[in-house]
Amino acid sequence: MAGGGFTVDSNVYGVNARLTASVVISCIVAASGGLIFGYGIGISGGVTTMVPFLEKFFPSILRRMENAKNNTYCIYDSQVLTAFTSSLYIAGLVASLFAGRLTRAIGRKSIMVLGGFTFLVGAAINGAAFNIEMLILGRILLGFGVGFTNQVSGIYLSETAPSKWRGAFNTGFQLFIGIGVLSAYVFNFFSAKLYWGWRLSLGLAAAPAIIMGLCALLISDTPSSLVQRGKLEEARRSLLRIRGVESDIEAELNDLVKASEATSAVNEDPFKSIFERQYRPHLVMAVAIPFFQQLTGINIIAFYAPVLFQSVGFGSDSALLSAIILGSVNLTSILVSTFIVDRYGRKVLFMEGGIQMVVCQVTIACVIGATLGVSANESMSKGYSILVLVLMCIYAAAFRWSWGPLSWLIPSEIFPMRIRPAGQSISVAVNFVTTSILAQTFLTMLCHFKYGTFLFYAGWITVMTIFVALFLPETKGVPLESMHKVWEQHWFWHRFVSRAPPSDLQKPTD
Ligand code: BGC
Repeated sequence: MAGGGFTVDSNVYGVNARLTASVVISCIVAASGGLIFGYGIGISGGVTTMVPFLEKFFPSILRRMENAKNNTYCIYDSQVLTAFTSSLYIAGLVASLFAGRLTRAIGRKSIMVLGGFTFLVGAAINGAAFNIEMLILGRILLGFGVGFTNQVSGIYLSETAPSKWRGAFNTGFQLFIGIGVLSAYVFNFFSAKLYWGWRLSLGLAAAPAIIMGLCALLISDTPSSLVQRGKLEEARRSLLRIRGVESDIEAELNDLVKASEATSAVNEDPFKSIFERQYRPHLVMAVAIPFFQQLTGINIIAFYAPVLFQSVGFGSDSALLSAIILGSVNLTSILVSTFIVDRYGRKVLFMEGGIQMVVCQVTIACVIGATLGVSANESMSKGYSILVLVLMCIYAAAFRWSWGPLSWLIPSEIFPMRIRPAGQSISVAVNFVTTSILAQTFLTMLCHFKYGTFLFYAGWITVMTIFVALFLPETKGVPLESMHKVWEQHWFWHRFVSRAPPSDLQKPTD
């Protein structure tokens, strides 16, 4: 549907649905899954600049900082330090793959509760850590928690929100990631002043886990998931609650039942079906979108904002303060996406965001290159450091209204029910794998490529912007059960899907 000529068929229930308090509350709770993810991301960057933490777990970095005022780009280049950061993502990857199968059996809501609980245990172990093993074990449990919740939060939101507002509700997930990151930065800022501050920062990860886990206990599962697990009466009650008692929910319920029957009739493994030719476009997007999201280079900023600001000349205190400024800009920008995504569509945000990010990355590379040069044995002047901070804010704002929320939204809305959890699992897994590889390599890359690191990411953003322009169909306002049409009408993908059955509503013929 490249040009917006798509019209929804008789299935207009999702389009005309009203906003009820129940749908709003359920979606806020599902989106709050982003809280623990954000806290996990934000906390490690700050904690790894705290001297007592480094003294206890990474003394070699402290020695390097003291002895070698040599090359600012390389101070933090430590494989152990990055292993600490990226262990969360490796664990998340494993959990998200399990979650895809588990969610079919126990439902979306139970996976969210499980995610909150695992994260809570991880936080407790991290806060009490007295050796590096405990630190990494705790971080792995945090990763399991995040893997579970990230897999289901997006699906929950897309299956529950009326199609007309699906995009806006989904941006809630990124909003909560932003709140999580910002709270982590704020806690770090204050706890950095205490000797045991790092324990406090790491232990406080229990708070978002408790908030999310307890709230998840109070909401009902999604109608799709309930139907799929044979709980028809509960599904009807859940639909009535979220669509409003006076709504006619029968058409929507019928479609869910048909989709579920088609799914169970073939008794197949969705992780195999997803490789069928008819799902090629879906699979390509499930892999490409999260892969590209990470290659925007956002985690340079999200993980290492404090480290980076310190590297470019801020002191330890002001490094955290700058990260807080950045975090606040992020929150405001996500709201831009919330207002635009269902009104003007996904692609316009992808395009504008992409161009803005490229311009900022190239300018940052020029400023750092011109001031620090290649050897970087001088520190950057306050003026230039502030300029870098401003450019990073503009870059991060663009990410927050484009690739940030949209990379979670697109995979959650493009799959037919038959392969939705499998598709979402693959997507989350790709996100984690790419994040951990980049986390593991970024500091080394900064050390060797210097300011060229930013040009590397600018190149990737150019590629992904062109990719989206050519290959991603617009999905704004399309009910999930009619989504097959956007592929059938796409200039490139139609050849893969046009002869396929409307995947959810008819029985697959293979
Ligand atoms: C990304 C994360 C990133 C975060 C920043 C998310 O959408 O998946 O990798 O750290 O946004 O807020």
